[in-house]
Amino acid sequence: MAEGNKKFTIQNLFNVEDWVVVITGGATGIGLMMAQAFANNGARVYITSRRQEALETAAKTWGTSLAHPKGKIIPIQADITEKPSIENLVKQVSQKEKYVDVLVNNAGISVGSSSVEKGHESAEELAKELFSEEQKNWEDVYRTNVIGYFFTTVAFLPLLSAASKARPGHTAAVINNTSMSGITRTTQHHYKYNVSKGAAIHLNTLLAQELRRPGVKVRVNSVAPGIFPSEMTTNESDETNKSQIPVDESYGEKKGIPAGRPGREEDMAQLVLAMAVNEYLYGQTIALDGGYLLEHP
Ligand SMILES: NC(=O)c1ccc[n+]([C@@H]2O[C@H](COP(=O)([O-])OP(=O)(O)OC[C@H]3O[C@@H](n4cnc5c(N)ncnc54)[C@H](OP(=O)(O)O)[C@@H]3O)[C@@H](O)[C@H]2O)c1
Repeated sequence: MAEGNKKFTIQNLFNVEDWVVVITGGATGIGLMMAQAFANNGARVYITSRRQEALETAAKTWGTSLAHPKGKIIPIQADITEKPSIENLVKQVSQKEKYVDVLVNNAGISVGSSSVEKGHESAEELAKELFSEEQKNWEDVYRTNVIGYFFTTVAFLPLLSAASKARPGHTAAVINNTSMSGITRTTQHHYKYNVSKGAAIHLNTLLAQELRRPGVKVRVNSVAPGIFPSEMTTNESDETNKSQIPVDESYGEKKGIPAGRPGREEDMAQLVLAMAVNEYLYGQTIALDGGYLLEHP
């Protein structure tokens, strides 16, 4: 095959063999889907979580039967809301690796909801409902979904930049898992989560601006998912750390999703791999939402 044709093969276009990937919150939900996408194509993937047990289940269940012989899923316990814990994570990765090709800031939380429909009744009812929200919940959500992304990225900069320097033409990537909730103008009954995701999208833009400079050379992009099965969306996961969303024929209409279904693991895998390997993608937020934002702009 001519070289001019060979470069267009999937194996070449999406080659992540021997890449080093760190995924926060990688033991369940979307983070685990991403971890499988990289590890099944030959990357060494470090997954983090606060729960050691969830990490071990993910690594044992999915890391021991990978499609690529070089792939690995390696658990490291870490809390992205604690700077010493982030430092320890970086230290542990740096003891095993010279660089990190991809950092996925994925660990996120959503706490509580409010009945905004009370506004149909009166200003007093709505004010009572919203003022009863716990201030600490707002702080916790922001601490994880925004501040955690910032400090984790910053702490990994030397290892990310080292990946760009190690291979000519290669640029390390940060991928921020934000949300369509940070784009839609509806509160979806959770103001604080949507505000945090809006902030994470702006953080993505600011980091992209600052980290593109020649001395750093790190690309920053974000995926803004619609509804995917996870512990966050279903409140549980099974003995393999996977979650299920029941779907019937009216699902798409009820939820306002033209695709008629929640996101699949494959949908997420295709986009995260593309964001990692495409060296020309800078500072973008790509909604992966089955068309949700078309119905809920
Ligand atoms: N699923 C969706 O429909 C959807 C849509 C849009 C965006 N997202 C985003 O996708 C990301 C992943 O969420 P998910 O839906 O896959 O839910 P999930 O299954 O609950 O995954 C989140 C993971 O983050 C970890 N985590 C939470 N706080 C952490 C912390 N302080 N330090 C380290 N790890 C932490 C959790 O593990 P531990 O509790 O063990 O720490 C958990 O494994 C989140 O940022 C979420 O906002 C999800």
